[in-house]
Amino acid sequence: MKPTALITGSAKRIGNAIARHLAEQGWNIAIHYHSSVLSAARLKNDLSSKNPDGKFELISADLNDLNAVEEIVPTVIKEFGTLDLIVNNASIFNKKSLKETTIDFFDAQMQVNFKAPMLLTQVYSRLQEGGLIINLLDTRVTGNQSDYAAYSLSKKLLWEFTKMAAVEYAPAFRINGIAPGATLPPADKDKQYLEKLALNTPMEKPTGVDPILKSIDYVINNEFLTGQLLFCDGGENLV
Ligand SMILES: NC(=O)c1ccc[n+]([C@@H]2O[C@H](COP(=O)([O-])OP(=O)(O)OC[C@H]3O[C@@H](n4cnc5c(N)ncnc54)[C@H](OP(=O)(O)O)[C@@H]3O)[C@@H](O)[C@H]2O)c1
Repeated sequence: MKPTALITGSAKRIGNAIARHLAEQGWNIAIHYHSSVLSAARLKNDLSSKNPDGKFELISADLNDLNAVEEIVPTVIKEFGTLDLIVNNASIFNKKSLKETTIDFFDAQMQVNFKAPMLLTQVYSRLQEGGLIINLLDTRVTGNQSDYAAYSLSKKLLWEFTKMAAVEYAPAFRINGIAPGATLPPADKDKQYLEKLALNTPMEKPTGVDPILKSIDYVINNEFLTGQLLFCDGGENLV
């Protein structure tokens, strides 16, 4: 039986690229999405036509709704018969300094970026005998820039959770993180913005999606790797 991956927020951008990459490698994919209905449907059609022997299903859930989050893993297991990998990719990335951050704004980022991956992990470990989780973090977990304060704090906490969960859920589950640097511009910015930002990093260019896909492969194939963080940031975490 083909292995199954659930990728949260996979209708577009990095999640979409991970879904396409894993499908090419023979994975069945549970395509989780929330508002990007058309992009998710398009991805399902593309994957089905390019990989006719694969299984690709849409899973819609608002990660702000904890009851809906709890249903995701049981739905995937019912539909596919197994769940071998969760990629916690969905995220919100909203700009506010600490001074500007209200509790409601903070909670919204924590809900999607931290609480949902934590709950998915808990449900997954209850329903499957073993598995693999990859948390998409951010090179910002090492720094203290506060322009995206709530986002950065949510990713720092997810990194701490990744290590703690790796210990508690071993040896049945492996849990690792991947920390991209500037990869794709936010919706209100263009490619030039990203290229300019990247000039301040050792490799002097944006991460691009390819290094993230290579890191996904590395985590999947290295059966002894757990509680680790792979930076895909051209050295940005060092400066
Ligand atoms: N882009 C970068 O340069 C960069 C840099 C460092 C780290 N990362 C990390 O890499 C991952 C992917 O980045 P990205 O830029 O591709 O992400 P993104 O486009 O900002 O978000 C990915 C998806 O998250 C989903 N999402 C947001 N709120 C949701 C909610 N309430 N319920 C369910 N889904 C929700 C959205 O799904 P719908 O569209 O279906 O609503 C969205 O398409 C993220 O974890 C991010 O933190 C990215």
